[in-house]
Amino acid sequence: MTLPPSSRWSGDHLELLDQRQLPGAVVFMQLHRWQEVAEAISSMAVRGAPAIGIAAAWGVVLAARSGDDLFTAIRGLRASRPTAVNLGWALNRMRAAIASSGLVDVEALAAVADAIQSEDRLLTQRLVDHGVSLLNQGSRVLHHCHTGAIATGGVGTALGVIAAAYARSMLRHAWLDETRPRLQGAALSAWELGCLGVPCTVIVDGASGLLMRRGEVDAVMVGCDRVAANGDVANKIGTYNLALVARAHGIPFYVCAPGSSIDRATIDGDAITIEQRDAEEITHAKGVEVAAPGAQAWNPAFDITPAHLVTGFITEFGVLRPPYREVLSALPLPNQL
Ligand code: MRU
Repeated sequence: MTLPPSSRWSGDHLELLDQRQLPGAVVFMQLHRWQEVAEAISSMAVRGAPAIGIAAAWGVVLAARSGDDLFTAIRGLRASRPTAVNLGWALNRMRAAIASSGLVDVEALAAVADAIQSEDRLLTQRLVDHGVSLLNQGSRVLHHCHTGAIATGGVGTALGVIAAAYARSMLRHAWLDETRPRLQGAALSAWELGCLGVPCTVIVDGASGLLMRRGEVDAVMVGCDRVAANGDVANKIGTYNLALVARAHGIPFYVCAPGSSIDRATIDGDAITIEQRDAEEITHAKGVEVAAPGAQAWNPAFDITPAHLVTGFITEFGVLRPPYREVLSALPLPNQL
């Protein structure tokens, strides 16, 4: 089955895949106002760092079509989720387009949003090709969260590497962390790999240690929401634990990082804002209370993996190896605005 896009521009509004309804149903939301896009990002109808950047860019186009104040829209969209730098990166490109044209040209803004989306298609394909080159034939790869096609504007990042490796007969099996509390691994990664016919098994997040101890994992591949100047990585909560377990077992730990996720303006991981989400995501499952009534819950959506635990970054420019501060500073990325 071909995968649906994470979003598509209809000519006068944005059609956004509602990822909350997967794997049960493929439903596109019809969005006409930037506020609806901001709400879709906060409520995680759209999620995955590149996909939220693309949606936000189209949100600015919707604001222009509605005659809204564009700088208010950009501020509102930027505030919809704090950790993934792709959101600010895409909005900075939109803001630069407004500033340079000096006037609100809806078609010109739509062309920039379209470029952000189509560039992502090309660069994820390049990133995936570099990622596959790291794997030996018959590899078993462990993955956390969801980094597939619908988290991007193209073929995905880490999950895209896994799918491409299978298509090129390099992959034996994919292990998918279920990814508590929102279950992106069980719901989205297993669905995407199922659509593509890739053999995979969902595990609870805490099972990775046993799996590695039994020699069932050859490499770990994850995505990221922000890479700081020193190579520290913000990604879905549980990534840090996984990196530590991989290091303890001598298993390579790769982070797929498109240029839009690299934030050289942030000095290290401690300077990255970690999104805190509603405690109900932990205390409740599908609206039913599963924790003891009154139990408190702490729900950071992301964690920081220190650079020294990262074996390599897989980017559209190639595979980066330490020392990361130097290697990242030499990448041909535009300076952050
Ligand atoms: O909270 P989410 O589901 O948006 O978190 C997503 C991740 O952590 C992904 O690994 C990351 O955004 C990369 S998606 C290519």
